[in-house]
Amino acid sequence: MSEANSYSPGLAGVIAGESAISCIDVERNKLNMRGYDLVDLTEGGASFEEVAYLLLHDDLPSLGQLAAFNDALLIERQLPDAVAHLLRTAPAKAHPMALLRTAVSALAYSDADSLAGDTSHEANVRKAVRLLAKVPLIIAAGHRLAQGQEPVEPRDDLSLAANLLYMISGEEPKAYAIEAMNVSLILYSEHGYNASAFAARVAASTLADMHAAITAGVATLGGPLHGGANEAAMEMMLEIGTPDNARTWILDALQSKRKIMGFGHREYKSGDSRVPAMKQAGLSVSQETGEDRWRQIAEISEETMLAEKGIFPNLDLPCAYAYYGLDIPIPLFTPIFVASRISGWAAHVIEQQDNNRLIRPNHIYTGPVGRTYKSVGDR
Ligand SMILES: CC(C)(COP(=O)(O)OP(=O)(O)OC[C@H]1O[C@@H](n2cnc3c(N)ncnc32)[C@H](O)[C@@H]1OP(=O)(O)O)[C@@H](O)C(=O)NCCC(=O)NCCS
Repeated sequence: MSEANSYSPGLAGVIAGESAISCIDVERNKLNMRGYDLVDLTEGGASFEEVAYLLLHDDLPSLGQLAAFNDALLIERQLPDAVAHLLRTAPAKAHPMALLRTAVSALAYSDADSLAGDTSHEANVRKAVRLLAKVPLIIAAGHRLAQGQEPVEPRDDLSLAANLLYMISGEEPKAYAIEAMNVSLILYSEHGYNASAFAARVAASTLADMHAAITAGVATLGGPLHGGANEAAMEMMLEIGTPDNARTWILDALQSKRKIMGFGHREYKSGDSRVPAMKQAGLSVSQETGEDRWRQIAEISEETMLAEKGIFPNLDLPCAYAYYGLDIPIPLFTPIFVASRISGWAAHVIEQQDNNRLIRPNHIYTGPVGRTYKSVGDR
């Protein structure tokens, strides 16, 4: 096959590697994560910490293993001085994703395994645990400092999902809020060879450090065609304003060839397997808060998109209205996605470096050839 024949724009449909972490089972419309159906994990009442353990250690933890994992996360729930200083000196208008990307990179300054240049399996797992524990602190402290408030110390008695909510608002989170956040963190945790996981793997394949690879993942997730879509979807629903306006708004947007945020997916063409579980979580948030407007707008948008384009919503749509209902500021939606996806990226980095081959594809050159150099004064 010639190079041109094997070329697929956007690498669509290209097999770019092997992985035992997860795969989208398109026929059964499920996400298989290390042999488990991801939705079974949410419905069975798993905690995000259990799922992160599954990603990092290939199997679900026993009670003792989970307790040890939770202890390891708890010990790491603190920020190094350099990162705390970075957050305090950042301009208040910095985008939370820009701040998070920089702070994740800066965590390498004081990570003992990074400093030692250790990319062994065991060191990579230790680095992943530190990142998982510290990223929620960065998100919450960065947000509060930008609002002129002091960071809230994490509590030892709260789960990762509960602490995230608590440290952002400073208030004791309600059970339904913790449940919705926990479900969203599980559903966001891992999704195969998507753009950010691939970016992390490319960086890891050069034997760059875990922190460098995760920074590449954060940078790649930020775009509105990937993780940034949850923020863009909520901005869209706010622009729509009322359920009555939703159908016309979507029709007009389609007419003017706008991309509708929170819809479509490269892999799922008959619905995102994660959406029903997140819709359920979003519904309970609406019922508990008594505010159903955003969920209704999403439902009418979905009906319209299906009727007009046959395009289904993706996870970002129900996550957007669920997070909004939990009073989470919109610019934190994508950073929260990062707090979860660290687990998947770290699993990819570990898998890549456990059995590494440099990722270095080819391209089709479309530029000129045979030009003659003239010195700058002669051009
Ligand atoms: C996710 C996404 C990038 C997938 O892109 P893709 O696999 O490259 O699909 P394409 O962009 O080739 O789309 C195929 C067709 O569906 C249309 N389409 C796909 N998603 C659409 C959307 N959200 N709104 C309107 N039209 C959409 C495209 O315009 C294209 O139409 P065309 O064939 O008439 O040109 C795309 O669906 C999108 O931009 N969605 C909005 C952002 C989003 O929610 N991202 C989160 C993903 S989890």
